[in-house]
Amino acid sequence: MNLKEKYGPWAVIAGASEGVGKAFAHRVAAEGINCILLSRRIEPLEQLAIELKAAHRIECVTASIDLSTVDAVDAIINAIGGREVGLFIANAGADSINSRFLDRPYCEWQDLIHRNVLMVAGCCHHLGGLMRERKRGGIILVGSGACYGGSSFMAVYSGTKAFDLCFGEGLWTELRPYGVDVLNLILGQTDTPAFRETLAKMGQPVPENLAAPEDVARVGLQRLPHGPVHNWGLEDDAAGYAPSSAAARRSRIEAIDRATKAIFGDN
Ligand SMILES: NC(=O)c1ccc[n+]([C@@H]2O[C@H](COP(=O)([O-])OP(=O)(O)OC[C@H]3O[C@@H](n4cnc5c(N)ncnc54)[C@H](OP(=O)(O)O)[C@@H]3O)[C@@H](O)[C@H]2O)c1
Repeated sequence: MNLKEKYGPWAVIAGASEGVGKAFAHRVAAEGINCILLSRRIEPLEQLAIELKAAHRIECVTASIDLSTVDAVDAIINAIGGREVGLFIANAGADSINSRFLDRPYCEWQDLIHRNVLMVAGCCHHLGGLMRERKRGGIILVGSGACYGGSSFMAVYSGTKAFDLCFGEGLWTELRPYGVDVLNLILGQTDTPAFRETLAKMGQPVPENLAAPEDVARVGLQRLPHGPVHNWGLEDDAAGYAPSSAAARRSRIEAIDRATKAIFGDN
């Protein structure tokens, strides 16, 4: 598959300054796709843009945007300008609060919800709409195994990731007929600066066998045409920590979709 033809000429990567987002930027750029790189810190983005342009002769745009603010989607649309975006990767999404729900002010949780839910939905609405018109494109929602169940210290985080999972599955059914691929890339523990920071804050050692961001990005792009879910480290038909495998989820989503279309129609 020629990724540039299917997902070019521009990709938007939300949360590109380090870790998985940065690894995605390298992968995407190596395919000849131009990159719009977003995060709060501009310096690492600009450094990354210099590296990508030199290594892959692509164009890069950088923008410092706090994705947890109410006007984040407008700021992203503004940064995109008239560029044709064929790939959206919603990567920024980790929980840096790491607390019980009632132990932190509500505004902190609201920021997390804005970034993980409203920013993701708003960008998918804008960019997905344009992809549907063009009848091609791809959307990767970087998720977490936390989407499969709530737990202490993760009530809001797992709630946002559960939203992204169901939202992405729904989008997959809606956009599939138009040639637009949607994938929930559900990660387990991955060796990112943000995760290392959380471990250090909690006084925990770095576990062995963390996934490497480069592998995650490579597999994510490979699995993009095979949505709606990929569970990191598992075959399509294996369940692991998820209550069902990606394959079982896919056929259940298809069955639910048939039942929904029986009521609402197929157009
Ligand atoms: N690492 C793991 O073990 C793990 C496990 C399961 C799932 N995941 C998922 O993988 C994705 C990446 O995780 P990660 O560990 O790399 O941490 P992350 O904090 O989600 O991602 C880091 C990137 O996101 C940017 N970012 C974070 N908050 C932002 C904000 N409010 N506005 C703009 N940019 C923001 C950071 O740049 P700036 O700091 O410059 O803004 C950085 O580029 C997340 O969706 C996470 O849920 C990770």
